Amino acid sequence: MSTGSAGRPGPRQGESGGESQQPPVGLAGLLHGTSGECARNLFDLTGRVALVTGSSRGIGLALAVGLGSAGAVVALNGRNRRTLNAAVAKITRAGIAARAACFDVTRPAQVDAAVDRIEREVGPIEILVNNAAVAFRMPLQDVTLDRWHSVLESNLTSVFIVSQAVAKRMIPRGHGKIINICSVQSELARPTVAAAAAAKGGVKMLTRGMCADWARFGIQVNGLGPGYVRTDLTQPLQDDPAFDVWVRGRTPAGRWGEREDLMGSIVFLGSHASDFVNGQVLFVDGGMMAVV
Ligand SMILES: NC(=O)c1ccc[n+]([C@@H]2O[C@H](COP(=O)([O-])OP(=O)(O)OC[C@H]3O[C@@H](n4cnc5c(N)ncnc54)[C@H](OP(=O)(O)O)[C@@H]3O)[C@@H](O)[C@H]2O)c1
Repeated sequence: MSTGSAGRPGPRQGESGGESQQPPVGLAGLLHGTSGECARNLFDLTGRVALVTGSSRGIGLALAVGLGSAGAVVALNGRNRRTLNAAVAKITRAGIAARAACFDVTRPAQVDAAVDRIEREVGPIEILVNNAAVAFRMPLQDVTLDRWHSVLESNLTSVFIVSQAVAKRMIPRGHGKIINICSVQSELARPTVAAAAAAKGGVKMLTRGMCADWARFGIQVNGLGPGYVRTDLTQPLQDDPAFDVWVRGRTPAGRWGEREDLMGSIVFLGSHASDFVNGQVLFVDGGMMAVV
């Protein structure tokens, strides 16, 4: 598969810091009168390698399709190899360059081996999307310590594990994009979601912490916070008439989110269009976060 970075001639191996923050040459030249070159498409991801965790189905698959449609080569991930291979086959048939990376995001050795393999066989990972997570709903008084550790490990610690493995390789290259999938639960709780909300609140703060430590290396770390989106994970909620009415009433747009609603934002956060956006969470929630 072909790799390599399109868009601006950004910093490469051995470069770091401020140089990576320069705007795309074509646009800068246009604005400052130093180049007659036409402005390049800020959102073009041609040839860039993206790893999207938890992308064998649901939101992760939609995010991978969004990045792939903008030209990225996408590594899809999940633990179930059969589901993963089916997803890779499906989007490959649609013309997206994709490959399978079957590993568990909570296992550091598996993560490191997979990241190493993607970088050797496909190319340097320039975009990482931390999306994998599990659903967990239970009244807080019934949550055992084991369940608590398990949800924090799957939904928060995994983001640290995968990001560190990838960032160690991005840092010497002096550039990279990390997008952490947050949630309206990064800011708001509801009954039965305290452990999951604690994890998503942690993902928001981890996003800011990564920005604090890694922005100087030309890495942008941002969060994407979906509202209520139709996926397998929310199927029990969609099937509950009272919850369905609540979601439609509580969301100013008056509907559930669809997975494709997230595609534009992931392309923005993965592309040069967002090169000076760092440590932010972009909510794609039909307005839920804006209105009580
Ligand atoms: N759906 C919503 O309304 C909503 C709202 C806000 C935020 N979110 C967030 O969006 C993300 C995706 O949600 P979704 O609704 O698309 O979930 P989903 O349909 O349940 O898909 C989860 C994906 O993650 C993978 N996965 C889970 N644990 C994993 C692990 N330990 N290692 C590797 N892969 C793992 C699953 O594959 P395997 O099971 O094969 O591993 C699957 O591909 C999550 O972070 C979720 O919290 C969702």
